[in-house]
Amino acid sequence: MSGERKTVFVKSYGCQMNAYDAQRMADALAPAGYDEAAAMEDADLVVLNTCHIREKAAEKVYSELGRVRELRKERALRGLDTGIVVAGCVAQAEGAEILRRARGVDLVVGPQSYHRLPELLEQARSRPGVVDTDFPAESKFDALPAASRDRTRARGVSAFVTVQEGCDKFCTFCVVPYTRGAETSRPASAILAEVRRLAEAGVREVTLLGQNVNAYHGEGTDGGDWSLARLIRAVAATPGIARVRYTTSHPLDMAGPNGDWELVAAHRDVPELMPFLHLPVQSGSDRILAAMNRRHTRDDYRRIVERVREARPDVALSSDFIVGFPGESDGDFDDTMRLVEEIGFASAYSFKYSERPGTPAAEMDAKIPEAVKTERLAALQALIERQFQDFNAATVGRTVDVLVEKPGRHPGQVSGKSPWLQAVALEAGDARFGDIVSVRITGTGGHSLLGEREAALRERRALTG
Ligand code: SAH
Ligand code: SF4
Ligand code: F3S
Repeated sequence: MSGERKTVFVKSYGCQMNAYDAQRMADALAPAGYDEAAAMEDADLVVLNTCHIREKAAEKVYSELGRVRELRKERALRGLDTGIVVAGCVAQAEGAEILRRARGVDLVVGPQSYHRLPELLEQARSRPGVVDTDFPAESKFDALPAASRDRTRARGVSAFVTVQEGCDKFCTFCVVPYTRGAETSRPASAILAEVRRLAEAGVREVTLLGQNVNAYHGEGTDGGDWSLARLIRAVAATPGIARVRYTTSHPLDMAGPNGDWELVAAHRDVPELMPFLHLPVQSGSDRILAAMNRRHTRDDYRRIVERVREARPDVALSSDFIVGFPGESDGDFDDTMRLVEEIGFASAYSFKYSERPGTPAAEMDAKIPEAVKTERLAALQALIERQFQDFNAATVGRTVDVLVEKPGRHPGQVSGKSPWLQAVALEAGDARFGDIVSVRITGTGGHSLLGEREAALRERRALTG
């Protein structure tokens, strides 16, 4: 290999796990001579890290590929080569089909084999059109190089760490069990080593990621089987880590592997575990929940929320909803609206049901017309927005801890997060990124909060080097 450095730009379209994968792909390519480009236009290699969850997300890759091909033409006029890689969940789902539908793709690589990127690119150089959508026996995590300290610092004070991947739940609407494969958990020692490296580079907050993160059951550092609750305790004890979060949880796994509600207890006992729970429910109708194969009822969901609120009264709830699932009647949709009213969410994501090829729901009758889906989504989103605004308004006048994360929108300002994942803008003063400052919330602005520093710095971590 020549000593010449090249640049790569990885663009992610999917969930937080996809965003994490994007960083790890860039890390995988660093030893092969690639630095990260600031913009796609400047990159010698463009990686589209795709998402297959809904039709719109999946189709986006084809329009984006058109754009990248144009870019490649322009760069060619300047004598520059541009490699094109399709990665992520569309790569896994469609594989070689992508090469047939779109010209110019050099390599298609699935979410479980991207640690092989350097060798795959080498193959594609002599013969473009390589496809690797294996679920290899070796874990990509064992093979991936760690990011350098500088790279980690540049990525900010809050970091994702994938701890669990894949899904065995098979909700009837969902492609994830097919694109990400069976559920697997990383060993705790590997996770903790990654967290330590992040902390040493200045990271203060880690979000543990998994498609079913609360189903985590990895090998512990003591040789035993660790649950997510046990893992959270160990991550929280890592020097420098001030905040721990986890996402996404499934209601079925909230009771934990031993049915002892250990994770809920962690919300009561572990101060670093932030009072925020993203717990998708999808629907408030038992009939639809059954058709979705969620394997819990609306009452089960209510009871879980009650338990978590007993353990941690200030916990904020968030969720995901699908409207217009096949067979969803007006009454079913009302049940969803009533559940949202009853629970009261700090935020939530909601989507129109999107039919995905190969999933059981795609075969179901009683499809819901697009216009009805649009109407229901608008009603649900209006309710969720009201709850979001109410939740933010309730913070005004209170003093909260803010983790300072990045420059604010205006000069002299910084922006950070409250324990409840609210964005807070404040005058920087002497605050540096990574500090946790005491902030009095003075008002709300659009989708964030405005605040003023209380006199003293709440906490700064001395960083060496
Ligand atoms: N593992 C998580 C979420 C995975 S996907 C869970 O079990 O909750 C993220 C969200 O996308 C889901 O919660 C669901 O609300 C939405 N989603 C998944 N498949 C969908 C589909 N076919 N149509 C519309 N929304 C979908
Ligand atoms: Fe998809 Fe259901 Fe698995 Fe979540 S639990 S990833 S929605 S199949
Ligand atoms: Fe999308 Fe794959 Fe995540 S389908 S939501 S990128 S797991």
